[in-house]
Amino acid sequence: MPDLEDLTEGARFAASVPARPEAFPIKGCGALDWGMQSRLARIFRPATRRTVMLAIDHGYFQGPTTGLERVDLSIVPLLPYADALMTTRGMVRSTIPPAAGTPIVLRASGGPSMLRDLSNEQIAVSMEDAVRINACAVAVQVFIGGEYETQSVRNMTRLVDAGQRYGVPVLAVTAVGRELTRDARYLRLATRICAELGAHFVKTYYCEPDFGTVAAACPVPLVMAGGKKLPELDALTMAYRAIDEGAAGVDMGRNIFQSDRPAAMIRAVGAVVHESLKPQAAYDQFLRPSPRSA
Ligand code: R5P
Repeated sequence: MPDLEDLTEGARFAASVPARPEAFPIKGCGALDWGMQSRLARIFRPATRRTVMLAIDHGYFQGPTTGLERVDLSIVPLLPYADALMTTRGMVRSTIPPAAGTPIVLRASGGPSMLRDLSNEQIAVSMEDAVRINACAVAVQVFIGGEYETQSVRNMTRLVDAGQRYGVPVLAVTAVGRELTRDARYLRLATRICAELGAHFVKTYYCEPDFGTVAAACPVPLVMAGGKKLPELDALTMAYRAIDEGAAGVDMGRNIFQSDRPAAMIRAVGAVVHESLKPQAAYDQFLRPSPRSA
């Protein structure tokens, strides 16, 4: 009902104060639709604009990976420490408690097992199902230089088109085949292609030297991929350098869930990412006994 008696004080309209449009301030995000920005703001912690994603999607091509044999026992207890969980719809529906509240980055490509050419992927999830799951993003592998390069890029662009319709961001994961070198030149090429063709954020490997040029040349946020298990101090050092050189977060799997103390490790990674704790200090924190078992 209109305010018939005009009780509202004129001053409350603050006519001289311009309204401030507040886009979520991460790289390349300002022109995105509200729903898209809102989902990104669940993945990237607004206070730091960075993210610690826990990647447990390995089973989609390699079955029960070491550390992921029982996701209910090994991963669910880690959810409070993850800003987002990268996983498959099968694992979401079977094992991840809906009440956990952890934003889901849903694996949306697949097809070949590790026994075949991994680049021969197809889209494996409809955007409608991603929305039904309440995913905050979908993830797709992009094989630049791979046998099925164009097909994988097409998977990504089709997901971007669908994501634009529904307000769901797309994470492009740059997959590097055994025959390709993970140097800055290659990673600049791969990440830039993904961003130019519409990916809303990109996951890629750390490289030395010049990771900073990879991050600088990519107009959307980069998250660093973990890769094979390293000693904890080395993994924390890699994460620290990636953030220091421009990454907006990490998406780590084996370096967390294959650690002897996964909860301590994900908390240490969180301290590096969100508090810029130096690697040795984060490692000392990792080693400290925790009140809860880690
Ligand atoms: C593959 O490339 C997938 O994205 C992985 O299954 C996963 O995300 C890799 O995680 P990490 O290398 O840190 O174990």
